[in-house]
Amino acid sequence: MTLRHFLRDDDITHEEQAQILARAARIKAAPFTDRTLVGPEVVAVLFDKQTLRTQLSFSAAIAHLGGFPMIVDGKLAQVGVRESIADVARVMGREAVAIVWRTYGQDRIEEMARYAQVPVINALTDDFHPCQVLADLQTIQEHRGDLPGLTLGYLGDGANNMAHSYLLGGALAGMHVRVATPSTHQPKPEILERATELAAQHGGSVLVTDDPIEAVRGADAVATDTWVSMGQEKEKDHRQGEESPFLRFQVNTELMAHADAEAIFLHCLPAYRGFEVTADVIDGPQSVVWGESENRLHAQKAILSWLVEQHRNGESA
Ligand code: CP
Repeated sequence: MTLRHFLRDDDITHEEQAQILARAARIKAAPFTDRTLVGPEVVAVLFDKQTLRTQLSFSAAIAHLGGFPMIVDGKLAQVGVRESIADVARVMGREAVAIVWRTYGQDRIEEMARYAQVPVINALTDDFHPCQVLADLQTIQEHRGDLPGLTLGYLGDGANNMAHSYLLGGALAGMHVRVATPSTHQPKPEILERATELAAQHGGSVLVTDDPIEAVRGADAVATDTWVSMGQEKEKDHRQGEESPFLRFQVNTELMAHADAEAIFLHCLPAYRGFEVTADVIDGPQSVVWGESENRLHAQKAILSWLVEQHRNGESA
């Protein structure tokens, strides 16, 4: 059996995504019933970029499953500098039952997965943030019901990892995903193409527009993200300044009024009030961001335990 990883949202099928979300819901209702990592088995969790939620939620997830989170500081490990990604993967795969990595290029995590011999989970790369979108889908499901046919409007940087993961993860779920972004910050063409293909297979649709109202009109969920993703700090003055290309894409009460009356507001956090979202929206009644943040724990327990189980079943088959 092929070793499975979760490096991008479409590394799982539509049916598997539904199973994993159902597992996340079960785990949320009964947090300590899944003991897949009892031993405790070690899961290596590496960070090459800043984090709060991801370190917290993966540490808690691994502990809840009966395992031990071995947090590795990327500045110490210097993966790919001090030694090759392949050698790091070979070492970690001997001691850990899974590897979770937040890094820069998608090529880095793909190389890790090629050599690790244990499941590898993407905890954010420049291109994708699939664990976040899994948690977001769980949140949407909790508030708006079955995902197929629901509409998600995302506003902001259409070229960042959240936009890409909403496109793939939402389309895989059979949702209508609309991305409002300036023409200068379009999603990568190959990701848009893949999302369009997935949407066609599962009854959803994909739209990229520069009209914020078109993206949120009648939407069940409205989402945004920081205009300055990790690694873009040097562009902060431009991205958040008076000439920012994203100003028209701010989520405020005026814009939210175009969404469905029961629409929820999502933000992966950290949030910058007054830039991508106004305080009255993120701190208002339609905002579900704190529950969304908590769902990182449940969704990650589900994907991690599912992948480890798949690997064990494959080894014993
Ligand atoms: N949303 C998210 O991934 O949060 P952190 O960057 O704090 O981990």
